[in-house]
Amino acid sequence: MGASRRIFVAGGTGYIGRAAIPRLLRRGHLVRVLARPGSEKRVPEGAETVVGNALDAGSFARAVASCDTLLHLVGVAHPSPAKARQFRGIDLASARASGEAGRRAGVSHFVFLSVAQPAPAMKAYVQARAQGEAFLKGLAFPATTFLRPWYVLGPGHRWPYLLLPGYGLAELLPWTRETARRLGLVTLSQMAAALVDAVENPPTGVRIVAVPEIRRAGGSDSGKAREHSWTGSATA
Ligand SMILES: NC(=O)c1ccc[n+]([C@@H]2O[C@H](COP(=O)([O-])OP(=O)(O)OC[C@H]3O[C@@H](n4cnc5c(N)ncnc54)[C@H](OP(=O)(O)O)[C@@H]3O)[C@@H](O)[C@H]2O)c1
Repeated sequence: MGASRRIFVAGGTGYIGRAAIPRLLRRGHLVRVLARPGSEKRVPEGAETVVGNALDAGSFARAVASCDTLLHLVGVAHPSPAKARQFRGIDLASARASGEAGRRAGVSHFVFLSVAQPAPAMKAYVQARAQGEAFLKGLAFPATTFLRPWYVLGPGHRWPYLLLPGYGLAELLPWTRETARRLGLVTLSQMAAALVDAVENPPTGVRIVAVPEIRRAGGSDSGKAREHSWTGSATA
């Protein structure tokens, strides 16, 4: 492991944040989590809590000042095509607020949990994420990482197992293979490992971490990822 990082996390009280933050802490990083009022108790033990509004940079910018890394995980719960307005008003607005706070504070690495793209479904969701990426790119942090999963399998997030036969077929056919890989399923453990890897290895400029790289970052879990694609027999 390299240097210990000081990481500010927006959206750290959710499904992925609560899996990734304990790993970051175990590896010796300092983690400060932005929580909205009422969500403080969902901040993983060992992390510092900052109460604020993820949509308002001014409410948390000072708390970012001593951090070198900003990890953005804020997003509307249970995304669906009916939530187009929330994708703009929460996902995109919070990415902008974090970007502004990070820039003001002199953060050197912005890590944005985006989504796989292009994609044939969830257009408003994908569009808000693409706009978030474009905005953050424009801020020109010394290092920016965009992670692009499609669906993260884990406790309470298992229904896409039903899609596995379709994925298997799509990966076999040359004309659908690339899309099937781009929109492949990853496990929560792989996602958390990929976030740790991203934080510990800032790129020069902009780096995109797509589904195949997220699976690889899962290390011993990567065999499972292939099983997810082909047989559906693994558990997350
Ligand atoms: N899970 C997946 O399969 C998947 C796949 C691709 C991309 N992503 C993206 O990855 C990110 C993390 O996903 P997740 O599954 O961990 O999501 P999640 O469990 O729904 O957690 C989302 C986080 O955003 C916060 N949040 C939501 N609305 C907010 C608001 N109005 N104001 C302030 N904070 C708000 C939540 O805070 P509270 O705890 O206070 O509610 C929580 O910390 C999201 O941006 C999601 O779109 C997820």
